[in-house]
Amino acid sequence: MSSSHDRPDLYDRVHAAAAVVRARIGGRAPQVGLILGSGLGGFADRLEDAVAIDYAELPGFPVSRVHGHAGRLVVGRRGGAMCVAMKGRVHLYEGHGAVEVAFPARVLVALGARVLLVTNAAGGLRPEWSPGTLMLIRDHIDLLRDHALRGPNDERLGPRFPDMTTAYAPGLRALVKEVAAAQGVALEEGVYVAMPGPTYETPAEVRMLQGLGADATGMSTVPEVVVARHMGARVIGVSCITNKAAGITGEPLSHDEVTETATRVRATFEGLLDGILVALVGRGELAEGPR
Ligand code: HPA
Repeated sequence: MSSSHDRPDLYDRVHAAAAVVRARIGGRAPQVGLILGSGLGGFADRLEDAVAIDYAELPGFPVSRVHGHAGRLVVGRRGGAMCVAMKGRVHLYEGHGAVEVAFPARVLVALGARVLLVTNAAGGLRPEWSPGTLMLIRDHIDLLRDHALRGPNDERLGPRFPDMTTAYAPGLRALVKEVAAAQGVALEEGVYVAMPGPTYETPAEVRMLQGLGADATGMSTVPEVVVARHMGARVIGVSCITNKAAGITGEPLSHDEVTETATRVRATFEGLLDGILVALVGRGELAEGPR
C-alpha cells in the first residue's frame, strides 16, 4: 500500500502545509492539537478569535467525503489554550493509506502542539457500558492493515522504532480523571482497538476483541496517535461509546445510532474538553521546554 506521502520528503511536505497554516493564522502559536470525531466537530466552532481553513486549501491534506465529517482546520483559543482543531478526519476505509490519514496530525505537531487530544466514536466491548459512556484511552491495539510509519523514516520527524509504552501519557490521564471527577462526569478507562472498517464488526470479531483485552472498538485514532508519538507530542484520547458492539444486544448497528449518541452526550463531552484545556494551562503542561 503506497501513498503519495511515503516518500523521503514527508518532512518537507509536513512543514510546507504548516507554513500555509502559519501564513493564515497571524501570530497565533498552537499549543494543543484537537482531533474531533463523529458528532464532536462542533467544539471547533467554540474556539475564540478563530481562523478556519478548509482542508482542501492545505497541501497534502486528504479530503473526506463521509457525511458527518466536514473537513476544516480551526485555530483559536479555548480555556486559555491556543488550539488547532481538526474538524473531521479521514479514515483508512475511505481508501487512504495510513501515512496519508495521519498527515494532518503531523501538521498539528509541526505547528507546535505539544499535546494532542484525540476523540472518537467507538463501539463498547464491555456489555455493562451503556451508549453515551465516555472512555479515557489507556492504551491501544492496532489491527489496521496499514501503518502510519510504513516507508522510509526521516529522523528529523522521529525515530525509526518509537517506544509505545506510554502512548497515552500517564500524567495527562491522571489530569483528565481529576477534571472528570471535579465535574461529576463518569469516565471509564480502557483499551481502544482499531479495526479497518467500514463494516462494523461481526459478533465473532467482537468476542475475539474482548478476548484480546480491548474495551472499545473503532476505525480511527491509531494512525494519528502513532505519528504524534513519533514526533514527541503527548497524547490524550477519549472515546465516546456510542453503541454496544455487534452481537451484545443482537440489534443491528447503524451510523445513525452512532451520531445520535454522540450528539446526546455532546454537551458533557465538550464540557470535559473545556476542563481539560483549563487544567493543561493551569498546570503548565503546555509550557515551552524539552518534550
Ligand atoms: N465498531 C467500530 N467502530 C465504531 C463502532 C463500532 O461498534 N461504533 C462507532 N464506531
